[in-house]
Amino acid sequence: MTSKRIEMAEWYRRAQEEILDSMDEELEMELDDDRLSPDGDSKSQIPRNLYFKELFRLQGELVKLQDWVVANKVKVAVLFEGRDSAGKGGAIKRITQRLNPRVCKVVALPAPNEREKTQWYFQRYISHLPAGGEIALFDRSWYNRAGVEKVMGFCTKKEYDEFLHTVPDLERMMIRSGIILIKYWFSISDDEQYNRFMMRIHDPLKQWKLSPMDLEARRLWEAYTKAKETMLEKTHIPEAPWWVVAANDKKKARLNCISHLLSQIPYQEIDHPEIKLPARVHNPDYLRGPV
Ligand code: ADP
Ligand code: AMP
Ligand code: MLT
Repeated sequence: MTSKRIEMAEWYRRAQEEILDSMDEELEMELDDDRLSPDGDSKSQIPRNLYFKELFRLQGELVKLQDWVVANKVKVAVLFEGRDSAGKGGAIKRITQRLNPRVCKVVALPAPNEREKTQWYFQRYISHLPAGGEIALFDRSWYNRAGVEKVMGFCTKKEYDEFLHTVPDLERMMIRSGIILIKYWFSISDDEQYNRFMMRIHDPLKQWKLSPMDLEARRLWEAYTKAKETMLEKTHIPEAPWWVVAANDKKKARLNCISHLLSQIPYQEIDHPEIKLPARVHNPDYLRGPV
């Protein structure tokens, strides 16, 4: 073997090691997910090795999507909605994991502050919509008004009605302005939410995730169901339909959601010229410091 080929083989081996490293990273997240699961291992119907294989394939496609979005200055906004513990955060994490944070941004706004409460309701969300070459992932969105705000009484009946009435037009305007808008509802069953909350209560590393809002959400399960049904009915428009992700099985939900997202955007692989690392400037005297 020539020294050149030995070198190539060595880089190939190291790249494989990197892949194993990233599997460790994903495995770590998975094990953490399952740590206190009564069944030990995750209850997913998808075997772990198949899950990894498919996840990595999809993440590779996401990189191509990112390339295409940047090259064509495309604007993508994806909304993730669903009950507490439905797995929105976990799905978002797998999408962003291999992407450039300057291209693919997560928007997870806290409750509105006093100043924001005096603004037009949509104002603070609008400023986070994507520019050309950006993907914005909304971990909860303006739909808070149709869910938590309605159920917990954080807005008036008038504000709620106004929201449902105006949101379809607002979204149509976004789409006409060139934004690709995709809306997901992560759906979990009553029993599954109960189990996930119980695990959080018993896990010192996860207790912080249980907010007073979540406990109320358990008590008000029925009210949330009604709010969800109204929301899906009033805001499911042909230009921006709701896609419901069956989320009782976390692994399935992630794979389904990512592969659906990819299917909604007509990206193509971008050709790049072969990358060569430039050689170092030879013996640059001017770079020597004073000795
Ligand atoms: P999360 O589940 O997103 O970690 P919480 O369960 O604490 O957070 O809150 C659920 C949602 O309710 C959040 O999007 C939060 O911004 C919203 N929220 C909480 N309190 C208020 C409030 N007083 N007015 C409006 N929205 C609120
Ligand atoms: P989600 O889609 O997250 O609201 O949760 C769906 C779960 O709620 C499923 O287990 C459904 O069977 C259950 N569900 C949906 N609508 C209702 C309803 N009107 N009353 C009681 N349970 C419901
Ligand atoms: C989710 O899992 O849906 C989000 O992370 C919200 C939560 O953890 O309650």
